[in-house]
Amino acid sequence: IGSLRQNGACAAARSPLAAAAAPPPALPGGSPLPRRLYGGAAMLRPLRRLSRPPRRAAATGPGRRLLLSTPIFYANGPPHIGHLYSALLADALHRHRRLRGAGPGRLSTGTDEHGLKIQQAAAAAGTSPPELCERVSSLFHQALTHAAVSFTDFTRTSEPRHQRAVRYFWGALRDGGALYKGSYEGWYCTPEECFLPESQLTEHRDAQGRPCKVSLETGHQVHWTKEENYMFRLSAFQDPLRKWLRDNPQAISPHPFYQRVLHWLEEDLPDLSVSRERSRLQWGIPVPSDSTQTIYVWVDALVNYLSVVGYPETHGEWWPAVHHVVGKDILKFHAVYWPALLMAAGLAPPERILVHSHWTVHGQKMSKSLGNVIDPFACIGQYTVDGFRYFLLRQGVPERDCDYYDEKVVKVVNSELADALGGLLNRSTALSINPSNTYPCFSESCFPKVLDYRETKGMGRASAEDYEFVASVASLPLQVANYFEGFQIYKALECIVLCVRQTNSFFQRHRPWKLNRKDPAEQLWLDTIIHVTLECLRVYGTLLQPVIPHTADRLLSRLAVEPEERGLSSLTFLARYNGKSCPFEGRQLGPDTGILFHRLEKSRQPQIETKKL
Ligand code: MSP
Repeated sequence: IGSLRQNGACAAARSPLAAAAAPPPALPGGSPLPRRLYGGAAMLRPLRRLSRPPRRAAATGPGRRLLLSTPIFYANGPPHIGHLYSALLADALHRHRRLRGAGPGRLSTGTDEHGLKIQQAAAAAGTSPPELCERVSSLFHQALTHAAVSFTDFTRTSEPRHQRAVRYFWGALRDGGALYKGSYEGWYCTPEECFLPESQLTEHRDAQGRPCKVSLETGHQVHWTKEENYMFRLSAFQDPLRKWLRDNPQAISPHPFYQRVLHWLEEDLPDLSVSRERSRLQWGIPVPSDSTQTIYVWVDALVNYLSVVGYPETHGEWWPAVHHVVGKDILKFHAVYWPALLMAAGLAPPERILVHSHWTVHGQKMSKSLGNVIDPFACIGQYTVDGFRYFLLRQGVPERDCDYYDEKVVKVVNSELADALGGLLNRSTALSINPSNTYPCFSESCFPKVLDYRETKGMGRASAEDYEFVASVASLPLQVANYFEGFQIYKALECIVLCVRQTNSFFQRHRPWKLNRKDPAEQLWLDTIIHVTLECLRVYGTLLQPVIPHTADRLLSRLAVEPEERGLSSLTFLARYNGKSCPFEGRQLGPDTGILFHRLEKSRQPQIETKKL
């Protein structure tokens, strides 16, 4: 067993392999899982040593680095809204982090270009895998850019720098004693790119009516495959994985997914086939020193999270300060295989895995064969970038599947962005209400500070309800931050909308348009109402930047909030109520650029994918 020492090394990695490498793994007696035949430990080329130890990621504190990642997308078909949802969740987290003024951050994404499924898709499209990947990868790049996903890195697994990292990672596994060669047979599911045990299969009939087996979860057909493969000693990592999870209850969120992984780890954890015969799969990275084998596409793909941070030279500046956003269908790859592979290569598991559920369409799974795949380009064209981002993040609940239909987008976006938020800005900045077009002054005599808002009788003009409402807006930034931290962006948006609605009620309740501007006392109160409303809008604009960046920018520009005043650290709400000075008071508002968010039209056509590859 090689004594690999790398940055972020995980001590737990050595013991399971030391134990596992000695006796050959036993055949699983009576197991429904694919049969594995031990073929002896592979002894390949020794691992190259690192010339200098890389720097370590700052583990804690405000200046700490963080790599956020989206999954890398299969380059066998165009993007759909499920892909976009994964990316938007990661993007919103990345943007919120920047807003907090947290330490350096990166957002990585890219395309997963190797494997049988890409090889077959290229053949079906009458093209070569590199050509297909080029086309599809650029579609993903465009879609993400178009949707304002602020990625800092886009990795293509066909890139040389990535392939080099994969070869190095393979060497680390091999030199750590984690690989052995064995013959392997089982049911392979190409669309999922993995072997499936009998327990996850069901009988079905193919297009010609012949009996066949399909994956229980996805309905995809599986094929019996028997090959000489390299095997990864996954079974040796059952205890280290359990310990990792028990010690890190936040490692997988939301909690039901954490429990699901713990449950998997209570069951049999067979070794994993990590290569395919090259004769069957040419489109992939050859196993170093064994050109008859191609590295398993999932190992190749997972290593993107390392290659993006410069593995094997400079990854230590970031690793393991990494949060992966993934869909529930790829949880096992990220929460079981990936941490085990990392431990085996002498690296620590990622800090967090943030899991989301799926979008269905009119209650059905989205699939090419059903012809109900929703095209993000069409959706953005129809509902605008911010409108569609808002919808997906507001309605998507990571814990459970969400159903998509066009009418819902129109309803949610019109009611919350156009009417509630846009309407509030429009009313509070109307020239008839605020002819000077300034951020007016707050009057303490109208809205005096009180210790208990239930005892405001006779003081000022604000009601107990008003005190309650400003208290909820004051606590909003922290609430929103906690929801982002807990991967509940939809809840953050829910409480912002609630406050927007409360602000509309506040405005409505006091009927500022009825106040007599010629009466100095009424003018003070009018100014105070507008001041409070604009302060609220400033808070909403600031907090909404990670979700609707363009609309938030227009809102903040209209309120004359300078770029350097848009962060969370400088977000003081209603400073004057707390006896402090307010830098906005008396400031000229920004130019009126019209309606903040135009109401959406109900689409005449569903946003179904039609792109030909
Ligand atoms: N290539 C792998 C990931 C490798 S990461 C090292 C893959 N690609 S994918 O293109 O099939 O999926 C990418 C992401 O889109 C996954 O997070 C997946 O869960 C997500 N979605 C795919 N369909 C989805 C829905 N219908 N709804 C929501 N997200 C879904 O898996």
